[in-house]
Amino acid sequence: MNTLFVHCRPGFEGEACAELSELATARGVAGYAKARAQSACAEFVCHSADGPAQLMAQVRFADLIFPRQWARGAFIALPDTDRIGVLLGALADYPVCGSLWLEVMDTNEGKALSTFCRKFEVPLRKALLKAGRLDEQGGGPRLLLSFVSGREVFTGLAPAGNSAMWPMGIPRLKFPREAPSRSTLKLEEAWHHFVPREQWDTRLHGDMTAVDLGAAPGGWTYQLVRRGMLVTAVDNGPMAQSLMDTGLVRHLMADGFTYVPKPTVDWMVCDIVEKPARNAALLETWLGEGYCREAVVNLKLPMKQRYAEVRRLLERIDAGFKARKVKVAIGCKQLYHDREEVTCHLRRLDK
Ligand SMILES: C[S@@+](CC[C@H](N)C(=O)[O-])C[C@H]1O[C@@H](n2cnc3c(N)ncnc32)[C@H](O)[C@@H]1O
Repeated sequence: MNTLFVHCRPGFEGEACAELSELATARGVAGYAKARAQSACAEFVCHSADGPAQLMAQVRFADLIFPRQWARGAFIALPDTDRIGVLLGALADYPVCGSLWLEVMDTNEGKALSTFCRKFEVPLRKALLKAGRLDEQGGGPRLLLSFVSGREVFTGLAPAGNSAMWPMGIPRLKFPREAPSRSTLKLEEAWHHFVPREQWDTRLHGDMTAVDLGAAPGGWTYQLVRRGMLVTAVDNGPMAQSLMDTGLVRHLMADGFTYVPKPTVDWMVCDIVEKPARNAALLETWLGEGYCREAVVNLKLPMKQRYAEVRRLLERIDAGFKARKVKVAIGCKQLYHDREEVTCHLRRLDK
């Protein structure tokens, strides 16, 4: 049980390793991170068996930037026959679990394995229930079986309340046909990640106002309008007519970096593809000056040192708020719908 295993976007294994190493060092958990390029996963191998549990107890999964899912446990080799028997044997020392998720990596090999997993899940679940290893009414941890190949699985545990909301951390969101662009799913995913579902009616409601910087053609504006908000869409490009027809959108052809809302608004969202430092400075101004109370902004990642650069930006934004003496909660995540970017969420806490 000395390994903390994480899923990530393929190509970001190095960032996941850097993040895990930094977290572990800061919490005095000794070990080392390793990953294979393009494997969509990484491991932090702890020197002591209770290292992963210590890390999970001290870190909020939602605060991690690059890992999409995590679990503590160990790898086991699977034979061609009686895989269930081998798994039951390996799980004998595990606590009784409250739920079972079978996961694969976000790679082509993983996609091919997912068919096997779907078929395997039913008999495995039955066997675990029969053996008393799974009690779906009990409050036990989640059992996460991450298949890295048909012959190797990471048998892991994670608290249901402190791990990914969806298997593999991949949200199941349906693209709304009326939305003008696919990036609409990015803002919807950001809300799922950063705003607890039970708070949507108080933090995302129809009496609110919003500004969408770099709005065209309107995928993000569509989400704001769907929540009933009055939206100022700032972009020189054209907005989808269907959105203008709702009567909830005012389209301004202006520069998002100099636009100042009058009066102030509840939400600002920004999907302008710009140098990350410029978007970060925009965030600092909007929240710092109180132009909005909450914001979701995309930060494009640099080519190199991506984790270090994101950390540096977040620290700079945080220092800016401290200097202004304003309290702002800052979240950052590479969402499933993000590619070479991360999504930041900020919320004024003192207004
Ligand atoms: C990635 S697209 C936005 C897509 C949009 N979020 C959606 O869901 O449909 C980026 C947009 O930013 C706009 N843009 C670029 N620089 C801008 C600026 N300085 N001010 C306002 N908009 C800008 C572009 O015209 C483009 O429409």
